[in-house]
Amino acid sequence: MLGRRQLLGRAAALAAAQFLAGCVYARPAGDRARTTTDPFALGVASGEPAADGFVLWTRCTGLTEDRLVGYEVASDEDFRRIVRCGTALAPLARGGAVHLELSGLEPGRRYFYRFHLGEAVSRIGTVATIAAAPQRLRLALTSCQHWEHGWFTGYRDMIASNVDAVLQVGDYIYERSFGEGPDVRTFGAPDPLTLDDYRARHALYRTDPDLAAAHAAIPFLVSWDDHEVENDYFAGHAGYTGDPQAFIRRRAAAYRAYFEHMPLRPSAFLPTGEVRLYRSVRWGGLAAVHILDTRQYRSASACVIEGEAADGPIARCAPTGEDGGSMLGHAQERWFERTVATWPARWSLVAQQTLFARLALPSGPESLYPQFWDGYGAARTRLLEAIEAASTRNAVILSGDVHSFWLNDVKRDFARPESPTVATEIVTSCLASRNGPEALFGPAPALNPHVRYCDNAHAGYVLLDIRRERIDGSLRAISDLADPNAACHQLRTFTIEDGRPGVAL
Ligand SMILES: [Fe+2]
Repeated sequence: MLGRRQLLGRAAALAAAQFLAGCVYARPAGDRARTTTDPFALGVASGEPAADGFVLWTRCTGLTEDRLVGYEVASDEDFRRIVRCGTALAPLARGGAVHLELSGLEPGRRYFYRFHLGEAVSRIGTVATIAAAPQRLRLALTSCQHWEHGWFTGYRDMIASNVDAVLQVGDYIYERSFGEGPDVRTFGAPDPLTLDDYRARHALYRTDPDLAAAHAAIPFLVSWDDHEVENDYFAGHAGYTGDPQAFIRRRAAAYRAYFEHMPLRPSAFLPTGEVRLYRSVRWGGLAAVHILDTRQYRSASACVIEGEAADGPIARCAPTGEDGGSMLGHAQERWFERTVATWPARWSLVAQQTLFARLALPSGPESLYPQFWDGYGAARTRLLEAIEAASTRNAVILSGDVHSFWLNDVKRDFARPESPTVATEIVTSCLASRNGPEALFGPAPALNPHVRYCDNAHAGYVLLDIRRERIDGSLRAISDLADPNAACHQLRTFTIEDGRPGVAL
């Protein structure tokens, strides 16, 4: 019989051996729960890649109490070399969502992960840490995926393209139908209003096999636009809900459900109900990706006349108030100024939601969309001044929202075409939705000399190959949104050369 000292010695030796060999996941004692349905039906996801870690996500469905979920992280697909294992809480109050933040891993390494609950095992996901000195970065820029308007086949192309990360800049879910048909499938539920409604909408999205596969294969960096809550809302102001208190409740439910379903750091959800989405990710000295949130803190457009719908173009934008409105809010603007100045990189990518460059429209000599950055001209100037003041080597603004592809030279002063180009803008089309208003967008390039290319006929996404000397971009178009096996084709390639802002076509 072994004495206590011997037992402790053996336990220590075993722990040391497990540490050296990695660790072995053991189901917690007493965890004999059998589940009739797969608790991991919503899949797995990773996000927030860093040089020494990442966030792993799952959301267990069907829970009736808080549960501990087991996890394993391995350096091989067969889980022979497990480098991390343990348990993470899946709280009922979070809908069973797990946001597991891991650090202390090796840079530039691929890892595989899975979760356990009772006898159930999740699908295997994979994610890589960022290399210490990356020479190349491959990103997919995507936005606007309407469940009813098309299949999400663009994600297959992203997986096949071996992208390092997906930048999803908003309209990840849609809260409403648009009814101008034909649709490929239906939400099968009324517009979400409560937390349960929004959870169900997000859960529905994760049953799409292409989206679920993309989350398992690629880390996502996400930020939202309006449809994650309600069309055309901004900050605490409703888009369509009549009762302001009802809107605040709706927004709180939507924010919470969004956090619960995204591979975000646990700290992104603040006690106030705010979701802190503005942040930066660094790929060594090659690229800094600054992700902005233009919805949560946005002020009213300087162009909107109180009480009027703002979803169409307006004839003239007369700036009101001293600062002419803000897309980011004061705190985020200050944060951006600091971060862009203190995170030098060969490429500074600014991922945000909507069209940044000026877009004069054919509906009148000063006609603009007040919901684009055109409705916040002073804020646009401040952001460009922050980029210039920081002596940013190459600024590239990445945008979505407008359901069409645009490649723009960003001018210091859009009213003077001869003024210097200070940045480049790349706008992705919708991944699955209808294109923009052709009567307005079709003639727009001729009215805006800084617009170098526009396509308003395709859905798709943008593939970016980032190297020190240049960015090679490809606009990837989906051949047919109604075909669940549609392929992507290359619509247009472009280049941005180091030290030469603007699009080289
Ligand atoms: Fe959209």
